[in-house]
Amino acid sequence: MKKIALLGSTGSIGVQVLNVVSRHPDLFSIVSLAAGNNARLFSHQVKTFRPAVAALANEEAFLSVKEDLPTGVEYFTGEDAVLSAIVKEADVVFVSVVGFLGLKCVLKAIEYKKPIALANKESLCAGGELVMARAKAAGVPIIPVDSEHSAIWQCLAFDSQKTCEKIVLTASGGPFWKLPKEEFSTITKARALAHPTWNMGAKITIDSATLANKGLEIMEAHHLFSAPLEKIDVVLHPESIVHSMATFSDGAMIAELSYPSMEIPIQLALTYPHRIPSGVAQLDLPKLSALHFHPVPEEKFPCFTLAKQALKAGGVMPCVYSAANEAAVEAFLAERIAFCEISDYIALALEKIPNTTPNDYDILSQTALTATAIVRSAIGDKLCP
Ligand SMILES: NC(=O)c1ccc[n+]([C@@H]2O[C@H](COP(=O)([O-])OP(=O)(O)OC[C@H]3O[C@@H](n4cnc5c(N)ncnc54)[C@H](OP(=O)(O)O)[C@@H]3O)[C@@H](O)[C@H]2O)c1
Repeated sequence: MKKIALLGSTGSIGVQVLNVVSRHPDLFSIVSLAAGNNARLFSHQVKTFRPAVAALANEEAFLSVKEDLPTGVEYFTGEDAVLSAIVKEADVVFVSVVGFLGLKCVLKAIEYKKPIALANKESLCAGGELVMARAKAAGVPIIPVDSEHSAIWQCLAFDSQKTCEKIVLTASGGPFWKLPKEEFSTITKARALAHPTWNMGAKITIDSATLANKGLEIMEAHHLFSAPLEKIDVVLHPESIVHSMATFSDGAMIAELSYPSMEIPIQLALTYPHRIPSGVAQLDLPKLSALHFHPVPEEKFPCFTLAKQALKAGGVMPCVYSAANEAAVEAFLAERIAFCEISDYIALALEKIPNTTPNDYDILSQTALTATAIVRSAIGDKLCP
């Protein structure tokens, strides 16, 4: 029985982790869970999974369901309550919160020497060097959950340090890769949230539409597989069947394929090197008949180019990129800036913040706060026309 501490239980990934746990109650249990604001779902999850510890960040939301919560559970609320869900009884900490908050969670889990199943990508993008160095020193495995990185990990036979010639990340291209560049100014929030192949949380769905997500994934792959930027390629693959590939010196390429479902990489992060039924159907190849691959039309996706530039610059620039993107996406979702402006605000933060060495959490946290402040102050009280 593997005991899971689940951070971000009410999100798209968190709910799918709980689906996996429900499918295999003989193999997994939830020892603690943490969420942000969704009190109703949090309450339902606590009643269903009966963790020893449960945390909800939003105090007002917590108070609204407090009376209805079961006894025998230790509750925490407040901004850092999520950290209380990293309990010593856990066998693995599943980090599926969204955004920079993930970094704090990952560093805490490393401090407690807990293996980490990592869905949160912003933690590695912002603080990859720090995270990987501390994980290595503490002997803590970081198990990739993001489908592309799980695919690469599988192609490398679950050994992240195995070398290959190239990592080839696939990108669905989101809803707009075929849209003429002149029409990008007409993109609405509703259209950007309608992803063609994946059903995900709002932030990552917008990141997929701008291809910032693929830029963040290049950073993630760089840290997880110790791969320099030149060894990481991206191809558009609109069917989202091939989740990524590794090429080797003899010209061979190994790929991982399945219907798009996060429950495969989520479950594998908990069972590897073993595989068990996931409820996902086997691929029907004749029915698929064709898979397509295209180069990334980079001229339409400045967020993608900026991510590579930030990674190349190194230091705190990837952290600036990730935090500025997070703030700009938040403004886009609040309909305060246009889709095309997201990259402008990232570029502004990258230009304004001087580069330094990210050797501790405080520097990264301060950098992220500064990047967020730059974006928010440049947006001001603007509303999207
Ligand atoms: N969704 C996918 O298919 C997918 C695939 C690959 C990677 N990822 C990565 O996985 C991460 C999560 O993505 P998602 O799509 O699941 O996001 P999401 O649906 O927005 O869920 C985010 C989760 O974080 C929780 N949260 C927010 N603030 C919190 C706080 N202060 N304390 C504790 N919990 C807090 C949210 O709680 P409330 O909802 O209660 O506020 C929610 O449970 C992201 O980094 C994303 O890039 C996602």
